[in-house]
Amino acid sequence: MDGRDLVRSMKAVGSAGAAQRLRTVRAAWRRRRADAGGLPARGTERARVPGQVQEVEPAPGGGTVRFSRSELRIRVTVSGAVFWGWDGAEPEPSYALAGRCPEADPRAVLEPDKDGGWRVVAERVTVVISRHGAIEVRTPGGVTLRRDLPPRWWEPQHGGPGRWMQRSEVAADARFFGLGGRASGPRLREGTYRLWNTDPGHAFDRGDDPLYLTMPVQLVVADAATHLAFHDTSWDGTVTLREGEEGAGSGHDRAGTSELRMDGGPLRCWVMVGTPARVLLTWASLTGAPALPPAWALGHHHARWGFGSEQEVRRIVAGYQERGLPLDAVHLDIDHLDDHQVFTVDQERFPKLPVLAEELRRDGIGLVSIVDPAVKAEPGNAVYDSGVTEDAFVRDASGRLVEGVVWPGEAVYPDFTHARVRRWWGGLYAERIAQGFSGFWHDMNEPTSFTAFGESTLPRSARHALEGRGGDHREAHNVYGLCMAQAGHEGLRELLPEKRPFVFSRSGWAGLQRYGGTWSGDVATGWPGLRVSLSLVMGLGLCGVPYSGPDVGGYDGSPSPELYLRWFQLGAYLPLFRTHASLRAGRREPWEFGAEVLEHARVALVERRRLLPYFMTLAHLARRTGAPYVRPLWWGSPEDRALRDCEDAFLLGDCLLVAPVLDPGTDRRAVQLPRGLWYDTATGKAYEGSGQVLVDAPLARIPVLARAGAVIPVRGEDGSLELEVWAPARGRTGGGLVVQDAGDGWEEPEVERYAARWEAGRGVVVEREGEDGVREPSHPVRVRGLGGEPQT
Ligand code: NOJ
Repeated sequence: MDGRDLVRSMKAVGSAGAAQRLRTVRAAWRRRRADAGGLPARGTERARVPGQVQEVEPAPGGGTVRFSRSELRIRVTVSGAVFWGWDGAEPEPSYALAGRCPEADPRAVLEPDKDGGWRVVAERVTVVISRHGAIEVRTPGGVTLRRDLPPRWWEPQHGGPGRWMQRSEVAADARFFGLGGRASGPRLREGTYRLWNTDPGHAFDRGDDPLYLTMPVQLVVADAATHLAFHDTSWDGTVTLREGEEGAGSGHDRAGTSELRMDGGPLRCWVMVGTPARVLLTWASLTGAPALPPAWALGHHHARWGFGSEQEVRRIVAGYQERGLPLDAVHLDIDHLDDHQVFTVDQERFPKLPVLAEELRRDGIGLVSIVDPAVKAEPGNAVYDSGVTEDAFVRDASGRLVEGVVWPGEAVYPDFTHARVRRWWGGLYAERIAQGFSGFWHDMNEPTSFTAFGESTLPRSARHALEGRGGDHREAHNVYGLCMAQAGHEGLRELLPEKRPFVFSRSGWAGLQRYGGTWSGDVATGWPGLRVSLSLVMGLGLCGVPYSGPDVGGYDGSPSPELYLRWFQLGAYLPLFRTHASLRAGRREPWEFGAEVLEHARVALVERRRLLPYFMTLAHLARRTGAPYVRPLWWGSPEDRALRDCEDAFLLGDCLLVAPVLDPGTDRRAVQLPRGLWYDTATGKAYEGSGQVLVDAPLARIPVLARAGAVIPVRGEDGSLELEVWAPARGRTGGGLVVQDAGDGWEEPEVERYAARWEAGRGVVVEREGEDGVREPSHPVRVRGLGGEPQT
């Protein structure tokens, strides 16, 4: 945040006065002083590399390889993931893992390799360790997917944590994805990406890096296989990526490279190999199944910073209802709080919040509350007082509470890296539940502090419990939002055991999906921002966080009617479909952009509602398999290089391909199709993939194509579930899964499995498959796409 933003923020909280500014400057100064006194000076450093292999000690799943100056633990686990850690690093403790480290695969053994090296041969991967400490990950067929050169450490001569660097090479044809939510993805081209969760302090655009949710997770897609590499270290760092290049004719290939530099923390890595689906399954089994959102959270959400009063909320809701526009959730931002203090309500402007919440609930609309971590540092403020009693707040090395400046002014920060503090915080949601809220939107949890100088977060010297190990903000920063999400999620599970918690969080880290989703933060209003929105959702999904979505219309300014509509149409196919904007931005209600936009937005809203059973099915599948709802086009055919480079369309589950309009003045767009037959769902026209086709994209809609043979659960006109079946190509079969769940509880619905095929004399036949054979479908069936002649 620069000075201008700071002043704007201050104005926003109604306290632009000199006193407030002075407090901010003081806070920044205090922080610098704390860091100077609380962190050891680096001084002279000594460089180190592993040296030569000395001896090995086999253990289940691998073993220990001792080098002259380091020691490598390697373990293949039963889940198929491979772990290795240098300097004796073990998989635990870890904020990323969902539980204990999976067991070692006893079939994988450490055996001698050529040139004095060693290898571990497992079912899906072979890992070769050279005698100098290079590590190669190979497919079972022997193709190298990743080659880590021997790492290098720089350690302060007088002790303390060392920095390290890990350089890796990947295939010349490989593409990088992931690293959390990145504005310049989903394909991560040449550049340096920082691993430090950051509030950019302004509406961000393409190229802004880092953002709120980073993670050291690389998904690398190459001809030979896909692999995910996760460096389990929460410290500050950078990843410099460079895609490779294949030699033309007789030229040599140039490998792709990744150079990871970390300021500290263990050098330990997990790698999983296979198809994209297999890799995400293994990742979810390691870091946790994505939380299942309640059904209402898959509908349309309307948020706004600055509703300002209960009457205004009612007015907006009525605006939707009078126009027959579906609405499933309303979000209240910080303006409904008393003096911006978390877990309070401005009683003047929101005097009967529980009554409003009850009215909304009766109309099937959930009420979502913003929850910021920073607590106004003011005796008499109940949350502050109870936090002080609980010794919940982050302190500096001298034991003083660390203060930052956020919306309520000077504030202190709970230390969510302490289980006791998480329990205390989780209990505070009782107040929100009593107000009638059913969902929670965690914000400003990088954590952010508005300071005029340097970083907009806590001092690096701030102390954290780190689950009893003790440490400072250098290690705790990146997991702060993750631990806050855990606190909220676990608190809600205790307070409302019969309901699935709905939490989504601006910041987070590897494993966030266990507790909920995220959104893309304050994306800048403009056509580039629209593209960025898709990049973030896709990138996060590939890092295991499948539920997210942007501020439709962008966070700041006023989108043109066309931009708003195109954003709205994209949002309707993303897991979190939410309009939201800043206090100072223009309106975002669908009726504010003219009659034509309203009609087209209505179509998008109605279609989203119709697709709710499909979204719910995708949510269940994400929980069971780790597969994101929104998938890159190459998901099922990663070897298709044209798809690998395609960033402007996505698969929604297995059945649909969505090709949003990302540029102004478009009424037709090119769509890169995966192989097979695809139907334009609006016209029924059939297209044969793979290859590029031109598809109509009038203002009224964005192209959505259905895979031939798809069985899609949709909501019929009377609200009951129906199956929309797209005719398989002649001589081919199709199918789909259905999970019927319109609720918010824990009942485990059945997964229904359908098959579609052509039968002479009967046309397209749809059957439900079960252990006891096939039977009639449990829902009405509507077959579409009959008679569509393929176009190429
Ligand atoms: C920053 C969040 O990103 C934004 O969505 C929210 O409106 C403001 N904080 C105010 O709470």
